Amino acid sequence: MNLQEVYNLFDIEPIYAKGCKVYSVTGAEYLDFYGGHAVISIGHSHPHFVSEMKNQIDKMIFYSNSVKNHLQVNLAEDLGRLSKCEDYELFLCNSGAEAVENALKIASFKTKRTKVLAIKSSFHGRTSAAVNVTDNEKIKAPINTRFETNFIKMNDIDAMKEALGTHTYAAVIIESIQGIGGLDQASDEFLQAIESYCNKANTTFIADEIQSGFYRSGDFFAFQKSGVTPDVITIAKGMGNGFPIGGVMTKSGFIDTWPGMLGTTFGGNHLACTACNSVLHVIESEDIMTNVKSVGQYLKKGLSAIDGIVEVKGRGLMLGAKFNFPIKDFRTYLVYNHKLFTGSSKDPNLLRILPPLNVTKYDVDDFLNRLRQGMEAFNVVPHDFETQF
Ligand SMILES: Cc1ncc(COP(=O)(O)O)c(C=O)c1O
Repeated sequence: MNLQEVYNLFDIEPIYAKGCKVYSVTGAEYLDFYGGHAVISIGHSHPHFVSEMKNQIDKMIFYSNSVKNHLQVNLAEDLGRLSKCEDYELFLCNSGAEAVENALKIASFKTKRTKVLAIKSSFHGRTSAAVNVTDNEKIKAPINTRFETNFIKMNDIDAMKEALGTHTYAAVIIESIQGIGGLDQASDEFLQAIESYCNKANTTFIADEIQSGFYRSGDFFAFQKSGVTPDVITIAKGMGNGFPIGGVMTKSGFIDTWPGMLGTTFGGNHLACTACNSVLHVIESEDIMTNVKSVGQYLKKGLSAIDGIVEVKGRGLMLGAKFNFPIKDFRTYLVYNHKLFTGSSKDPNLLRILPPLNVTKYDVDDFLNRLRQGMEAFNVVPHDFETQF
């Protein structure tokens, strides 16, 4: 049997990883400023993470959600405390899309409505409802488009008010910093207006923190900068540092739950909880927040100083460098010739930068050197912005 060809693959096979470095089967060392798509939070193979996972494997990997699991309880307590969201309840699942799927279900159960308001260039996953609130028609199968979704521009308060004024929307879903969309940020005013109009219209305010959560933006959740409290928060990616786990946090009292309302076989299994508990432990003991803020600033400053980068977008360690040409070939060139992994986005000119959150200033210097050398060799001419394209 062959694999379905649904991914564009680099001709590289990583077999070992440590910190922000990835090593291929040929022995080549790569600098990972992509974090396996914003997944690696505390660094590849962090020693505490590895030893906790090994211990848990020795004890037990899985039992179903029909029995008590103190690892889930510990996870909810630590996540609530560290994120300052103690007044939420947690449902555990296995991926980002599954978190969004369940968040939309909660919104629809609560409001008895089906319409969703989303943001242009949004990405919320590829499963049935999640892909329907994603702004990319190409990846929607006919079966996905069974409820109405409308897309408004980021920060268009009037369009949001007009839509919610109809009192017909189950939910507004928003990434406070867009990931795949290209790092556009919601303004404080926009998020505050969404919170207030959702309250007025009995609409659920869903914050998708799957990519921006767990301090990637500098705050535990990106929406926290704007002082809002969404009804529902979706989480995944950095939560497990590479081990699959996702979750939905719902404000206590937002909805009356009943057994069977949500469920999953694998969600919250022992090994997945151990992964997240280890991440939370390291986030606290190594003060990841301070590192993201200071190294993020340092990286942003370094990028802004490079001639040929026309804009630096994002915050924390969720950044993008904008060029005045499509970066597809340049990104590939950086991988093969400068052993540097970075990301792309819907914006063809934007190189996405998503390193592990415990990256150092030394690693950033290394990154900036590789990038500068790559730009020089790739003939990215700084001043008149002409390129080899
Ligand atoms: C903001 C956001 N939401 C949802 C998802 C979907 O997550 P997953 O790929 O784990 O299903 C992603 C994935 O990139 C994402 O960036």
